[in-house]
Amino acid sequence: MITIIFNLFKKNYFFTILKKILKRFERKTFAEATKWAKSHVKYTTDEYLLSIDKNLFKETKLYMKELEKESLKKLSTLKFSLGGGGNYKLLYFFTRKLKPEIVIETGVAAGWTTLAILKAMKANNFGKLYSSDFPYFRIKNPEKYIGYLIDKKTYYSNWILDIRGDDIALNNFASIINDSSVKLFHYDSDKSYSGRTKAFKTIKNKLSNDAIIIFDDIQNNLHFRDLVRSLNVNFEIFEFKGKFVGVIGFQ
Ligand SMILES: C[S@@+](CC[C@H](N)C(=O)[O-])C[C@H]1O[C@@H](n2cnc3c(N)ncnc32)[C@H](O)[C@@H]1O
Repeated sequence: MITIIFNLFKKNYFFTILKKILKRFERKTFAEATKWAKSHVKYTTDEYLLSIDKNLFKETKLYMKELEKESLKKLSTLKFSLGGGGNYKLLYFFTRKLKPEIVIETGVAAGWTTLAILKAMKANNFGKLYSSDFPYFRIKNPEKYIGYLIDKKTYYSNWILDIRGDDIALNNFASIINDSSVKLFHYDSDKSYSGRTKAFKTIKNKLSNDAIIIFDDIQNNLHFRDLVRSLNVNFEIFEFKGKFVGVIGFQ
């Protein structure tokens, strides 16, 4: 509790934390969203990736096994949890498949998906990842642990990290990235309906026409359902560690 209060009054954190608290009062649609997500699952992540590219799927499996081993070992030295990772297999696979020059992601935490994207960029020999995050205010010195799994020296030329929260960080990215230049967008930060809506609105013009858009934890509320309906696009949904991830764009 003392740590939370201390972080609350840190410079620049107060308003973001306050907004996060207020968002907890948004309409609860978890049950409806979970039912909707579940009813749209057609394949497992592995079946889907295998059907797109057999060789790349093999590579993804191999590299992601290594990533899991490395990451679990590193995290085992910590006395607290940095939360679970997103669907890193999907992120590795699509970064290799699309060979994007620019990727935007929100939500780094320990950095499972961040590491998957950066590893794929190294294999591609190019690519820049713009990551937005906000420190976990329940732990002491939270800034220190953002991207804990990432070896900063190896990836410094591929990675731009802004930890001021999506509202500021995504506006910052939008001001420096060209329109229609982002081929892959991964959202895994503020899980509220309004947070998702605002983030997507901010980066929408930056996405190329054929961009892959991935939203994590779509069971939290009806945002993903409403988004695919309003865009009138095809989509896939996968179950991942008891939660659901939605993918728009690759058919
Ligand atoms: C589920 S974790 C991300 C997991 C990560 N993708 C991985 O695979 O390891 C969510 C992250 O989003 C951050 N977050 C929450 N609200 C945020 C906001 N408004 N802006 C930016 N990041 C936020 C949390 O602090 C946390 O670091």
